[in-house]
Amino acid sequence: MANYGYFDDRNREYVITDPKTPVKWINYIGTLAFGGFVDHTGGALICKSDPALNRITKYIPQLPSSEFKGETLYLRFRAGDRYQVFSPYFVPTLDRYDRYECHVGLGYTRIVSEFHGIRTDVTIFVPPGDSRVIRDYEFTNVSGQPIELDAVPVVEYTHPDALKQFTNADWVPQTMQSRVHDDQHGIKILIQYPFMRRDITINYFTSNQPASSFETDRARFLGDHEYGTWANPTGLQAAELGNYEARRGDNIAALLHHLGVVQPGETRRLITQLGQEVSVAATLLLVRRYRDERKVDAAFDKMARFWDNYLTAMQVETPDVNMNRMLNIYNPRQCHVTQNWSRYLSLYQLGFGARGIGFRDTAQDVMGVMAHAPAEARTLIEMLLSVQRGNGSAFHQFNPLTMIADAGDSREVEGAPDYYGDDHLWIVLAIAAYLKETGDLAFLDKTVPYYDKDRAGHPVETGTVLDHMRRAVGFTMSNVGAHGLPLLGFADWNDTVNLRAGAESLFVAHLYGKALLEMIDLARHMGDSAAADRYTGYYAAMKARVNDQAWDGEWYVRYFDADGSPLGSEANTYGQIYVNGQSWPVIAGFATPDRARQALDSVYLRLNTRNGIKLSVPGFDGWDPTRGGITTYPPGAKENGGIFLHANPWVIMAEALLGNGERAFEYYDQINPVAKNDKIDEFECEPYVYPQNVLSDDHPQFGLARNSWLTGTASWAYQAATQYILGIIPTYDGLRIDPCIPRCWDGFRLLRRFRGAVYQIEVKNSDHVGRGVRSVLVDGKPIQGNLVPVLKEGKVHKVKVVMG
Ligand code: GLC
Repeated sequence: MANYGYFDDRNREYVITDPKTPVKWINYIGTLAFGGFVDHTGGALICKSDPALNRITKYIPQLPSSEFKGETLYLRFRAGDRYQVFSPYFVPTLDRYDRYECHVGLGYTRIVSEFHGIRTDVTIFVPPGDSRVIRDYEFTNVSGQPIELDAVPVVEYTHPDALKQFTNADWVPQTMQSRVHDDQHGIKILIQYPFMRRDITINYFTSNQPASSFETDRARFLGDHEYGTWANPTGLQAAELGNYEARRGDNIAALLHHLGVVQPGETRRLITQLGQEVSVAATLLLVRRYRDERKVDAAFDKMARFWDNYLTAMQVETPDVNMNRMLNIYNPRQCHVTQNWSRYLSLYQLGFGARGIGFRDTAQDVMGVMAHAPAEARTLIEMLLSVQRGNGSAFHQFNPLTMIADAGDSREVEGAPDYYGDDHLWIVLAIAAYLKETGDLAFLDKTVPYYDKDRAGHPVETGTVLDHMRRAVGFTMSNVGAHGLPLLGFADWNDTVNLRAGAESLFVAHLYGKALLEMIDLARHMGDSAAADRYTGYYAAMKARVNDQAWDGEWYVRYFDADGSPLGSEANTYGQIYVNGQSWPVIAGFATPDRARQALDSVYLRLNTRNGIKLSVPGFDGWDPTRGGITTYPPGAKENGGIFLHANPWVIMAEALLGNGERAFEYYDQINPVAKNDKIDEFECEPYVYPQNVLSDDHPQFGLARNSWLTGTASWAYQAATQYILGIIPTYDGLRIDPCIPRCWDGFRLLRRFRGAVYQIEVKNSDHVGRGVRSVLVDGKPIQGNLVPVLKEGKVHKVKVVMG
């Protein structure tokens, strides 16, 4: 099996050593405020604040991997009567390389390559809080001969309205404009904008070296009426570029730098900047700063410190190397990316505006960063609450720039319910997680408007955060169907099961149960026993309805259709058993002990594979409008019985809740992407992040992953591992320690920042019990039970736990 790279834990990098990965592997730089992704051959999709309405580079993922996408750099030197032209990124010239490494780092990508005797070492990143991409190049002559070298970085722009770029080939090219600004010392700044934004926003591209010429028109750069190609641009065979300021067409930014004769062993540095500002004047001030190499180094160090601080919120040392790698570096990193980009922009989710920020997705994502970045989580929670409706339900998604919300795919189906049964309930879990992490109960009193607007566009109602939570559970309580179970709405977590109006969802029932547990816990903590009793009553009523009506014999059913018939039952031909129908009654505490065990055993028997747990079986075998989107997929793909990884950690959590550490860990380990590094020909995606889905054994390409990076798997795998397997659980009153680990483990260590103190936790499992805490010493003193209280801020506290 081919191997495409390795993990370098010391530098917190994954190093790709063969550029011909089965699909592009990417990394994120910057944030949604300014940033995007860079692929391992240097292509980049960059936007500011919104990939749909303010996109900067043109990156078309559907084109073959060999194609230019967004940005590259060419090097050239004279070879006889022509120039030898090549790209140190491999793409788009595809030359034979002597060395290639792409270091996928925390917030940066560094590519080191050797072609034609030139070593290029380029680091690509966005300085923290800044609106520019920096590419910091070093070119070293390793050939043994002097080389007279030219460097030509090139960017291709898109119209900022990303979809228009592809739907209107008349208006878009007529509007695109470029011009040059000659700055000090021969340095050029290329300015680009669509005509209507000329006086408001400009894109710019510049470097820290004099450029002798430039090009801004793609056709002229590629030459021969664009029969010149990105692999071999005709424009690069001339001594100078055309110095053409485009007044229409496909705009690029190319700068020709004569680096002069580079002697053997000599290195030249070139720093490029691609950014967006309000005006040329504003640009000048900022770009000059990063022409100074020391300022670039300092910005890079600042970014490294951000990640140090972020990651040290939790560090683990378990007997499992792959788990350590994920929990210490890649999983919290992926959580940061998902909370930033939701499901908006990746190689698979193309950011054209149909989606924006998903309500349920982001509510789950924030739980993954809670220990590391609670303030960021809080900001996002407030944003989400502002798209909750006055009736307690939520809009499915919203655009982060305009804050305009909508009802998602339900708009496309005539007569379908205009809400999703689950969206609003997730926010209750997210807020509870925030409160437990921070103890910031004052947040509950903060007022946030509901989304509903009057004619002038002003919100008609405002409520406290606590009121938002109450209305969320209230909406589900009062929107039930024939069995007294919550209505499905257009769909629940499983977007693709779209039953007729009137259908009921057991998933929503369970999620409601879990949300009620949080409401009860919070009410007790606040001393509001009346509220606690009320919610306990609702909880008991729903628990009884679930158990009276939804047990199918060996597992719980998943839905009741509008006519009262079950889906997720032995009685069905397709979709007999659904995994979320089994994990969630355990998480909600609804399942009785016998049923909980049996339901999870049914999952193991019917749904488990060596690559993860399938969402359901048997897969639907053809389009069925009465079931909806799920039947658009062939069996074994995505929601139709694929291994939809997001649902796997919930089974891990359920097994841990039942005390089965062996099974919980087995499920964790079998989906750990790190372990796929040796199976890339099958898996294909990045081994340093969770993908959303893997084809199941009901599909001929079993094991093939897709939709990497932006998935709820990141947040839940992290929560499952740290809070359920390792069992370090934030509560209102401190950290509860309740591990559920494989019996063979001797124990583990964990460092956890919590409420301003550092908890240095050491868990000993010398008796190999796997579950149960016998004693806890806090700073040398024994405590009763397993709840370590909130400890003195600013100090490191030693917590010694003995299992037994
Ligand atoms: C996608 C969606 C998510 C949904 C899941 C299952 O990941 O982003 O909201 O829950 O699919 O359908």
